[in-house]
Amino acid sequence: MKRPVRIAITGAAGSISNSLIFRIAAGDMLGPDQPVILQLIERPEAMEALRGVAMELEDCAFPLVHAVRLHDNAEDGFSKVHFALLVGAKPRGKGMERKDLLEANAEIFSVQGRALNDHANPDVKVLVVGNPANTNALIASRNAPGLSPSQFTAMSRLDHNRAKGSLANHIGANPADVTRVAVWGNHSATQYPDIRNAEAFGEPVMPNLDAKWISETFIPRVQQRGAEIIAARGQSSAASAANGAIDHMRDWVKGTPDGDFVSMCIPSDGSYGVAKGIVYSFPVRCRFGRYQIVQNLPIDDDAKQRMKATEQELLEEKAAVEHLLPAATEEAQNA
Ligand code: NAI
Repeated sequence: MKRPVRIAITGAAGSISNSLIFRIAAGDMLGPDQPVILQLIERPEAMEALRGVAMELEDCAFPLVHAVRLHDNAEDGFSKVHFALLVGAKPRGKGMERKDLLEANAEIFSVQGRALNDHANPDVKVLVVGNPANTNALIASRNAPGLSPSQFTAMSRLDHNRAKGSLANHIGANPADVTRVAVWGNHSATQYPDIRNAEAFGEPVMPNLDAKWISETFIPRVQQRGAEIIAARGQSSAASAANGAIDHMRDWVKGTPDGDFVSMCIPSDGSYGVAKGIVYSFPVRCRFGRYQIVQNLPIDDDAKQRMKATEQELLEEKAAVEHLLPAATEEAQNA
């Protein structure tokens, strides 16, 4: 049996974590031969609820769960972790402006970035799920000068999977037979779900698709899917968000299948003309625990415009919190 790895999860008593933790414990993220130590982090007010989660974990008797630790602070919670899934965030309250939300989360993710810097394993892989995820990842990274910005990612995998599922449903294929879907930009309604390069059974899908369906149905549906689910369920997506987080981490660690790519929000290196210094969703391939942006995908005028619009939103989010950020290190500037 392998040595256990340490996984921190914030917001561990919340809705997404209620799926996420149990799937990680079952081996869905790192495989059936990788024992885990779960370091679950919550706000002090939610520790009693977190105790309930720990009881349920015990009652599952998962063979891979080596230990479960409960923490009410990031410093202890991130101690020696190899993976950190930052799910907890401040939700938008009544009458709260977008700027207030960004600032409130800037505080949380600054503390968590510093704690990761000081206490996590130096090779830690970080996934930010809590919204606004891209900018929260940027904030955490900027507060962790001892770690590489490339260690900080945010989740667009749910959007990627939504795009894949919606396309597969439309053409009558199994999602597993659909490849080369991409999501560009922010995890928000400005994101650009891109199926211009998608294939089904190894054949391009574009010749069989109606352009009007793509621009008037497919793209807005993926962009608005979160709101559609809230309207139907009265609660935001939880099981599918947990599934996206598992897929993101698994592929980052174990690699993407040959001939396909996935979407991850990562620090922009300037590829495709996207401004450096923001965390932007790109199509990537993963191997040996690293990711690389897929280069040379054709970008037409429509795609360029959509990619710019979502980039602009991320630049605005960054400008709104810039005064709260420590100066970027040289590596962060060149990321
Ligand atoms: P939830 O409200 O059910 O749970 C959030 C939990 O985080 C709560 O238990 C809360 O006590 C905890 N929390 C808040 N601040 C914390 C802190 N500083 N440290 C530790 N714990 C903290 O929310 P849910 O449904 O689990 O969603 C979590 C986040 O994920 C939200 O921000 C949501 O918008 C976001 N989300 C992101 C998606 C993506 O694709 N990137 C998809 C769906 C949701």
